[in-house]
Amino acid sequence: MRLTCWYTQQCVDQLNDLRVRLFTRGVEIDPQEVALINAKFLRLNPELALVLDIDGLSLSANGMKMQPDWNAEIGRLKRATLKTEMLARATQANDQPRLIDATAGLGHDSLLMAKFGAKVTLIERHPILFTLLEASYERAQIDPFLASVVANITLVFADAEDYLEQQYAKQQKIDVVYLDPMFPQRDQNQQRPKKQAQVKKQMQILHLLLPEDGEMDLGDALLLQAQKIAKRVIVKRPRHAVFLNNDTPQHQWLGDACRFDGYFCMNSTE
Ligand SMILES: C[S@@+](CC[C@H](N)C(=O)[O-])C[C@H]1O[C@@H](n2cnc3c(N)ncnc32)[C@H](O)[C@@H]1O
Repeated sequence: MRLTCWYTQQCVDQLNDLRVRLFTRGVEIDPQEVALINAKFLRLNPELALVLDIDGLSLSANGMKMQPDWNAEIGRLKRATLKTEMLARATQANDQPRLIDATAGLGHDSLLMAKFGAKVTLIERHPILFTLLEASYERAQIDPFLASVVANITLVFADAEDYLEQQYAKQQKIDVVYLDPMFPQRDQNQQRPKKQAQVKKQMQILHLLLPEDGEMDLGDALLLQAQKIAKRVIVKRPRHAVFLNNDTPQHQWLGDACRFDGYFCMNSTE
């Protein structure tokens, strides 16, 4: 995989580090120095590219740039309670479980579970997305509030199917596996509540990076793997989506736009 990386002069040192990291993950970058990366520049260069500037590492496309913006989550994290956060209730995150988030994405769900005390291993297989996550993780480590949250997070660059298989082979018992695989965009039209503009923007760019439709891996195999090693498996789905792997859950937590499906092994309860 090859991608242009627009960068500003003050980021040359980070550029070299980025080039090495991505190369080890199978991505070559084509660095292009730019005096000022602003909205006009992004509009004039709409193709998918990396951006390295004063805001850190981002992905740009169609005149916008985005990054897993963990700082923007601080308000929600501070306000979050078990009552307001269905995800925390479903994963029992306040019991400080050993939890694998097998489909990291932008890492927002992991942050929330880690804030409640879960020890989260975040797995992401896409090299660019993983590198963006790593950059967010490093920025979070120097934020007075986020530092204590990300102390509960470990990032792993891997295909979760392989990773879960390895845990099984090592007879590791995990408290919770959390799955939020991609769901085809065309099937999400039924979601009634309007998404925030910021979330929409992030998802649009994410969908350019990740395979869609026919090629899309819907994550059915992950459920089977997860059930072999975890006491509790929680799957996030759009509210009206079919069950993952057509497997009926034992319990559901229903929200306006999404739901959480729970699968428990015998000695666990909802
Ligand atoms: C819908 S996003 C997850 C969003 C995430 N819950 C969040 O809070 O941002 C799905 C992510 O799972 C990743 N993914 C899907 N299957 C995977 C697998 N087998 N191994 C690792 N990552 C996977 C995709 O690359 C994508 O980034």
